[in-house]
Amino acid sequence: MKFNLKRRLEQKFDEEIRFFKGMMQGPKAVGAIAPTSIFTARRMASVIDTGSGLPVLELGPGTGAITKAILAHGVQPEKLVSVEYSADFYRHLKASYPGVNFIHGDAFDLDKTLGALSGVTFDSVISAVPLLSFPMEQRIRLVEDLLDRIPRGRPVVQISYGPVSPVIAKGGSYHIQHLDFMVRNLPPAQLWIYRRT
Ligand SMILES: C[S@@+](CC[C@H](N)C(=O)[O-])C[C@H]1O[C@@H](n2cnc3c(N)ncnc32)[C@H](O)[C@@H]1O
Repeated sequence: MKFNLKRRLEQKFDEEIRFFKGMMQGPKAVGAIAPTSIFTARRMASVIDTGSGLPVLELGPGTGAITKAILAHGVQPEKLVSVEYSADFYRHLKASYPGVNFIHGDAFDLDKTLGALSGVTFDSVISAVPLLSFPMEQRIRLVEDLLDRIPRGRPVVQISYGPVSPVIAKGGSYHIQHLDFMVRNLPPAQLWIYRRT
């Protein structure tokens, strides 16, 4: 029992160091100051419908805090496709979560990044890509692209640290919903959902 607690604390410390290193290499690409909390990660994963039988697409897994919550929610590792831009995070994720289909690539160029999986329909998308580091046009294009990869009505969930949705409502092609404000997160985070109307 004591050993488990010690191991868990060591793992958490490892993740924080890894995150800090990533942040030092590219603060704009990481876009946060600490790994996502377990409370936030669980809340994001809670939108996944494991009964749909469809795979789930995760973007920007970083240290894997949200990946872990997605798996704990009941998604089989082989049903999770997760796209990470940083080579260092990618290597660590591959070693930590066997069976998950991690792809080292750019979420903003999904046809190329997903390759043979680019025609797949996903149940939902769970994204921690730091949208605020990218121009609005690019954010809108990403959300539109993601919504084309999931059934109508299913959610794209996005974590963000600003007070308003990081993607503006545009021409009514998607609906924006505020899912939650997570105080137990560093920094406190907003969760947003985008769906096709
Ligand atoms: C805010 S951090 C995610 C933190 C993660 N939830 C955790 O707990 O460690 C953002 C992540 O998005 C990744 N990222 C940034 N730009 C990306 C892109 N264009 N495509 C895929 N991943 C990207 C970063 O490398 C980083 O891992």
